[in-house]
Amino acid sequence: MEPRISIVPAASLAPELSVVVPTYNESQNVPVLVELLSKALEGVAWEIIVVDDDSPDGTAGVVKAMAAKDTRVRCIRRVGRRGLAGACIEGMLSSSAPIVAVMDADLQHDEALLPQMLQAIRDGADLAVGSRYVGGGSSGDGLSSIRKWGSETATRLAKQALGVELSDPMSGFFMIRREKVEGVAGELSREGFKILLDIVSAIEEPMKIVELPFTFRSRHAGDSKLDSLVTAEYLGLLFSKISGGVLPVRFLMFAAVGASGVIAHIMALYFALDILGYGFEWSQFFAVMTAMTWNYILNNQLTYRDRRLTGIRFFSGLLTFYLVCSIGTVANVGVASWIHGFHPVPWIAGLTGAVMGAVFNYAASSVLTWRS
Ligand code: GDD
Ligand code: MN
Repeated sequence: MEPRISIVPAASLAPELSVVVPTYNESQNVPVLVELLSKALEGVAWEIIVVDDDSPDGTAGVVKAMAAKDTRVRCIRRVGRRGLAGACIEGMLSSSAPIVAVMDADLQHDEALLPQMLQAIRDGADLAVGSRYVGGGSSGDGLSSIRKWGSETATRLAKQALGVELSDPMSGFFMIRREKVEGVAGELSREGFKILLDIVSAIEEPMKIVELPFTFRSRHAGDSKLDSLVTAEYLGLLFSKISGGVLPVRFLMFAAVGASGVIAHIMALYFALDILGYGFEWSQFFAVMTAMTWNYILNNQLTYRDRRLTGIRFFSGLLTFYLVCSIGTVANVGVASWIHGFHPVPWIAGLTGAVMGAVFNYAASSVLTWRS
């Protein structure tokens, strides 16, 4: 009988570099990316950490099948959560390599830049950014003209509002010492796309930053996930930063939904008065219910899309939201009357009451309705 020999694979070198790749429906792109990374990073101990938000196209399954054969490939499958920034943060925090990079799965980022970025960090830089806007870089065919305009405007806003000194703070392609991210991980926003901007403005000590030009290629397979909601979240992030983090992005979103609810309220009121022919009290009641339902649906779709309530929980959530808003209204009227008692200008009292009500509704619904 042949002797049985079990072959134990030699432990591979611990990676120096983790390449974190957030994915949503990128099953066709990841295998190509791994291939390109293998070539670009020859001689480097690297790994790829794909952070997939349970893509319907089965990206996680494809990546895990690769991981079963190649120890450089790892997959984090997140269920019930969505968000590019949050995925990148989780990927970076899951790494034990001293250096981490973030890049997109769709081949828009030029992997040939990775060795240069790595060299810059080995030579003492804390952060290396792939920039479309330093000499030699370009947004090539990767952006439509409207996206190009949007990207440039967002860049200008970031520079003015936050004093960020990067030529391309919107870039989703960078490499950083992991310890830098670990230090500020708790302060980073999980929403939106602006992970680099957020990291750079969160780190307070001076950093050595190197910017390297690259050409933003066009997407390989599939579609972009950057939509108007992402843009709204970006504006929210800027406001949140300007307020020194006092106002969370989620609150700003909640307040914007609330403002739209006022319009829904007025429209419903006129509808009930003029079209349904109700008396004022019933019309006002109808308008209040409409506005609360409107706010609930929008908050569930947008503000809390990462904790979206569905099925039976949609309805129980709606009931708790009605309850929260009713108490919020009592708080609103109470505070307004109290202020009006010693401050005769009605709009100041009214506005203070409304702000109180909004803060209360936000705080209470985040605990009762959309608890995490
Ligand atoms: N896990 C996860 N969850 N990944 C996501 C999500 C999400 O909710 N949304 C998008 N991604 C992944 C995509 O699968 C892709 O790998 C990467 O994030 C970038 O998404 P795209 O949809 O391709 O974004 P883009 O090309 O429009 O935007 C890119 O360019 C912008 C600059 O113009 C990104 O790199 C942005 O960060 C960058 O600001
Ligand atoms: Mn893309």
